[in-house]
Amino acid sequence: MSIENDLSLIQDFDKNYFLQVFKPLPVAFVKGKGCYLYDTQGTKYIDMIGGIAVNSLGHAHPKLVGAIKKQAGELIHCCNYYYIPGRSELAYKLCKNSFADKAFFCNSGAEANEAAIKIARGYFHYRNEDRYEIVTAKNSFHGRTLGTIAATGQPKFSEPFAPVMPGFKYVPFNDFDALKEACGPKTAAVMLELVQGESGVHPANIEYAKLVDKFCKDHGILLIIDEVQTGIGRTGMMFCHERYGITPDIITLAKGLAGGVPIGAMLCTDEVATGFHVGDHGSTFGGNPLACAAANAVLDTIKEENLLVNVNEMNAYLMEKLTKLKGKYDCITDIRGLGLLIGIEFDERISASQMMIEMFRNGILVSSIGTSTIRLAPPLIIKKKEIDTFCKVLDSILKNTIPAKKDLLSAIKDKLPQTSKKVSVASFDKLPGEEDAQQTPAEPSAPVAPEDDM
Ligand SMILES: Cc1ncc(COP(=O)(O)O)c(C=O)c1O
Repeated sequence: MSIENDLSLIQDFDKNYFLQVFKPLPVAFVKGKGCYLYDTQGTKYIDMIGGIAVNSLGHAHPKLVGAIKKQAGELIHCCNYYYIPGRSELAYKLCKNSFADKAFFCNSGAEANEAAIKIARGYFHYRNEDRYEIVTAKNSFHGRTLGTIAATGQPKFSEPFAPVMPGFKYVPFNDFDALKEACGPKTAAVMLELVQGESGVHPANIEYAKLVDKFCKDHGILLIIDEVQTGIGRTGMMFCHERYGITPDIITLAKGLAGGVPIGAMLCTDEVATGFHVGDHGSTFGGNPLACAAANAVLDTIKEENLLVNVNEMNAYLMEKLTKLKGKYDCITDIRGLGLLIGIEFDERISASQMMIEMFRNGILVSSIGTSTIRLAPPLIIKKKEIDTFCKVLDSILKNTIPAKKDLLSAIKDKLPQTSKKVSVASFDKLPGEEDAQQTPAEPSAPVAPEDDM
């Protein structure tokens, strides 16, 4: 029997041979098409998380698959001793469609941020200015390397690996006065996400972003915007900073750029580009022909298929439906985000991880962040049909868990004693591996994903 079809064998191999740094749901996907994924049993799921904002064109998009196949048949890798046509083309496309003059390619978001941090310091070094500090936001997330855990404003990611790389200061997000206060003569750069994705989908205030932009320009501080999650159409424009009307000096990209083929990019102005001289930075795989062919296909397809328009239309459609659900269920406390990066926050009656499991059981994939928020980052090609199904499932889960507002009101009217009690979510099972969790994998109940999309 092939390991591909045997979930328990996959789990066994994983447990015994793969470093246990993740806590996966009891499922393995072997095939995808559009917004749908298929597991080892052929069960179909709607992918509302898109590999965490990676599968920008969905799964098995013919243009992306075609470009990868063609490139793989011609030349997969070629080192940086030589020119690489696809790399030059990708750099051209990204620069012509942004504020940037130069692009550097690597393999992940963390590496793109490493390049950004290094070039910011190099920029001042080569100007003979003693400026190296970088101010970042609390609750930010910039990656898992030693440099980017230092940049990340969440000590839980760096504490076990101390000493943390020096030279970073952390300020509360969306607090301009605190940021201003933290900057001084040694400040080289301010580094921010415009939507803090990993800590609960928290967008920056527009006023804040504009003040930071102006302050940086006034004081010769470089502004680095981490667009690893928000870039490449995710928020309804090609880059999120365009929505805010600000002009950074450096941005970083990764996730959606090549639709699932590993890539990272750091874009900067010609002025900032003076921070790297020949030999100062590099990457064996970064910008290789295969990854660049995939990224070029993603950028072309976003344009050809008008996907930015789709992102904005689907955002409006989804937000309207979610707002209605929020009106119906007071356990939904907030709906926030931009484009197709959306967080739904619940009050203490709903555990986000249990909601994720319940969704999974109903054939829908989302991610949970912290205890109270679920995150949606579906493919940019998503249509109303998938959104309708997602909202229907959310409605039915909440209906079976929390009485709708009007039911509560009638209960209060009738002076029933239980109205003042918190509604239990005991009907949810816990994540496999959690304390007192069931040990056998959860069998998803009949998924509700529509059948006609394969
Ligand atoms: C904003 C942001 N920056 C950086 C990263 C790190 O990217 P990678 O996991 O590709 O290294 C992430 C990953 O989630 C991210 O969301």
